Amino acid sequence: MSRKKLNIGLFGFGCVGFGLYEVLQKTPGLKANIKNICVKDKDKKREIGAENFTFNKEDIFNDAEINVIVELIDDADAAYEIVTRALKSGKAVVSANKKMIAEHFEELLALQREYKVPLLYEAACCASMPIIRNLEEYYDNDLLESIQGIVNGSTNYILTKTFKDNLSYEDALKEAQEKGFAESNPILDTGGFDAKYKLLILLAHSFGYIAKPDDLFNIGINNIGGLELKYAREKGLKIKLVAQAFKNLDGSISAFVLPKFVDSEDRLFNVDDVFNGVITKTSFADEQFFVGKGAGAHPTASAVLSDISALSYDYQYEY
Ligand code: HSE
Repeated sequence: MSRKKLNIGLFGFGCVGFGLYEVLQKTPGLKANIKNICVKDKDKKREIGAENFTFNKEDIFNDAEINVIVELIDDADAAYEIVTRALKSGKAVVSANKKMIAEHFEELLALQREYKVPLLYEAACCASMPIIRNLEEYYDNDLLESIQGIVNGSTNYILTKTFKDNLSYEDALKEAQEKGFAESNPILDTGGFDAKYKLLILLAHSFGYIAKPDDLFNIGINNIGGLELKYAREKGLKIKLVAQAFKNLDGSISAFVLPKFVDSEDRLFNVDDVFNGVITKTSFADEQFFVGKGAGAHPTASAVLSDISALSYDYQYEY
């Protein structure tokens, strides 16, 4: 199959943006070149030369050779502006912004249909674990009954460090931030919001059910205290932040994010540190279990890379 040459306009050059730059240097077989990088902060010292950057997004939108926009910025509202404008101008988009996607799912779907351009976002859900592509392709004819798992790397890292290494909650969070796992507003991680955005994406690709963030409830790990940790230790349990969605007998769907005690029989028990783990249950395959790094520069960049590669074959989700 022939592959399209891709000229990328990249928005954002933080942890994942730089990760993608490095990953692309190491994959010369893929004909994808970052033509221009748009960043906000003029004074920030960067790892590569100033000639690669612009501060004016028009330089990317007006460049007819740029056929893919990769959006890796932190701000969901600014990301929404970039992504909608890119789709309307016929440029394919790769985004890692779960909050933006979860908040505007319906509209983004409609734009893709109207302008016949793909928007891929494998990196928005469980970073390196290719869960969206699996849900889209593998289960096309096998009915999903439930999906559940650990979908936030930072909180799993914090829970692991407080539990195993007796680190304080504050120190564990600080480490998650230093390693580039946490959101710049870490309450999104610790309050279970990031997990909820990912669950909304999973819901759409598992059950074709599109809901809004306010439709689902989420409880994070920020209220877990010494008592719960003590109880878990005494009983040989662990605490995990679990996102779950399942079909009820009447066909309706329930979905929520909650911290859970898990025992050593549970597949999620050994999913520690920054790893994510997702269990699907379907009519024919029965249970399947996916594990992979859920945050960090290169694991997240690997998912962005897989989307860029998929675009070179004109891949698009079918929903
Ligand atoms: N803050 C997110 C997490 C980053 O910890 O899972 C990856 O989506």
